[in-house]
Amino acid sequence: PLSRSLSMSSLSGVLPAWEDDELPVEELLLFEVAWEVANKVGGIYTVIQTKAKVTVDEWGENYYLMGPYCPHSFSSQVERGEPPHAAVRKAMDALIHSGCQVHCGRWLMEGSPSVILFDLGSAAGNLDRWKGDLWETCKIGLPPEDQEAGDALLLGSLTAWFFKELTDELGGKPNVIGHFHEWQAGLGIILSRARKIPMATIFTTHATLLGRYLCAGNADFYNNLDKFDVDKEAGERQIYHRCCLERSAAHCAHVFTAVSQITAVEARHLLHRTPDVVTPNGLNVKKFSATHEFQNLHSTSKARLQEFVRGHFYGHLDFNLEKTLFFFIAGRYEFSNKGADIFIESLSRLNYLLQLQRKDVTVVVFFIMPAKTNNFNVESLKGQAVRKQLWDTAHTVKEKFGKRLYDALLKGEIPDMASILDQDDLSIMKRAIYATQRHGLPPVTTHNMLEDATDPILSNIRRIGLFNSRSDRVKIIFHPEFLSSTSPLLPMDYEDFVRGCNLGVFPSYYEPWGYTPGECTVMGIPSVTTNLSGFGCFMEEHVSDPAAYGVYIVDRRCCSPEESCHQLTHFMLSFCQQSVRQRVIQRNRTERLSDLLDWKYLGRVGLLLHMIHTDVIEEGRHVNRQTDNVCVHNSHDT
Ligand code: UDP
Ligand code: GLC
Repeated sequence: PLSRSLSMSSLSGVLPAWEDDELPVEELLLFEVAWEVANKVGGIYTVIQTKAKVTVDEWGENYYLMGPYCPHSFSSQVERGEPPHAAVRKAMDALIHSGCQVHCGRWLMEGSPSVILFDLGSAAGNLDRWKGDLWETCKIGLPPEDQEAGDALLLGSLTAWFFKELTDELGGKPNVIGHFHEWQAGLGIILSRARKIPMATIFTTHATLLGRYLCAGNADFYNNLDKFDVDKEAGERQIYHRCCLERSAAHCAHVFTAVSQITAVEARHLLHRTPDVVTPNGLNVKKFSATHEFQNLHSTSKARLQEFVRGHFYGHLDFNLEKTLFFFIAGRYEFSNKGADIFIESLSRLNYLLQLQRKDVTVVVFFIMPAKTNNFNVESLKGQAVRKQLWDTAHTVKEKFGKRLYDALLKGEIPDMASILDQDDLSIMKRAIYATQRHGLPPVTTHNMLEDATDPILSNIRRIGLFNSRSDRVKIIFHPEFLSSTSPLLPMDYEDFVRGCNLGVFPSYYEPWGYTPGECTVMGIPSVTTNLSGFGCFMEEHVSDPAAYGVYIVDRRCCSPEESCHQLTHFMLSFCQQSVRQRVIQRNRTERLSDLLDWKYLGRVGLLLHMIHTDVIEEGRHVNRQTDNVCVHNSHDT
């Protein structure tokens, strides 16, 4: 199916060729710095977590991850321990002796990389002084009310301080490489370049700040990329200082990378530097011993979802669960950027068309997007309790039935089936059935929403009137929290949930990469993506007919929202028309694309960066390129 071979060197326009003259890994130490190290927020966590195994395989003990210390995640995800290098310990101690808490250990996941996590709170007393230092360095001022920028400064100052101590300690060998992700970690680059710390730096952008804001504000983004007055737009959104930090980090880095071509173009216009390399995001693709294994996993997880749906729709289970499809959208709650707007509109049309065609298919659609809540709502919890009670009742009656049947058979009799259950049994069963009566409709949301009246998903569901009525062929369940296997309501982790679904729908307008459809692909679950997402464009480029392999790409680039909705509705409707057998075949084909997304191949970019760094380190020692460019004028500073 692949229009090109998997060799990364064949990704023309993405990667230059590399040679074999790089420094051996033993002479290098690689530090990857990000806000989401052992701290889940969104896709950057997935990048780091899934890439760890291949990176550790290549770099061994010479690879470290660094980020902010979050006590809760640390205690659940990290095993405390010593760093493998004495020089790293000494650098940490230098900070600790000055009153800053630094924690070290192994991140408990595949590859078990070493992590160094900085307790930002313990360094907060330095904030004003460090703001002054930043101003002196590059004339970027941080307003006091922006705590997120303050935290980014704390992380940046601590990492730059750490690298200063480390490189002093090492005295030139091994060479140090710092790979920083996104603006929150980017300050480490600005400060270490300004202080002429002898190390090579990479900055990877996973989005631009302004791009995210402009798109969320319904700008006609892609048609005006070259026309935005970046400083003015940032100033109007009170993010001018953050954008200065981001732009400065991009310009100070020796190597600048973006996760997709589409983001590379955005960065060129909004950050005014073209990424040197595009590094598409990969996944740690687990290969199952038998080829049909993922199909079995789909069945088991689907059965668990069916159980949940039995509870959620108790009293209204007049649809056939065997003919019910599960669709979902998931990710950080960015309503229009993630395309939830056109998804809801298309669901309304799908509902109408399924009713019109009198199809016996029902679609249950899950929205998994975290919003502010005050825990699960009673109605949802009650649904699962009712289901459990029915199950227990059936079990009790079954036991009694079984015993009476057995006793009769022992006596050599066939029992009278009409009287094998007595009046008590019938009463228990009737009471259980009465308990399933409900006065309202099955709830749309599983939680008590704090901003119920203004919530964009709920407001749009109200507008189109999809309230889980009996006549609706499309039912909605909004779960405004990431999934967890310890949830009392839907105890499944995200991976198991995805496996149990039939179709992931991610019609994003702004999506630098977009892990969610890729994760579906490697689990053999078809998905919808768009030609404005990094993932969708990557698939369009490398697979000749993505739809045949269960990757449906909605055109959001060259057509109106109305046309995109029409296309999405059509994709979903034809998906509903597939037979069980067609869906099984399609899942097999989808899963065959996994290799394309495996870090085993995409991670070879790491080798390339490795080579570039080697050159840059040499250059950095003699020339220290761009240090003079650190100053990014902040004339509109607040
Ligand atoms: N995700 C998760 N739990 C959930 C829903 C989503 O861990 O219940 C993860 C999902 O696996 C994906 C990430 O959230 O890796 C979202 O990343 P993506 O790149 O799609 O978007 P981002 O949120 O970074 O913009
Ligand atoms: C950002 C982007 C997302 C991307 C992720 C990882 O959060 O919004 O599209 O997949 O980073 O690169």
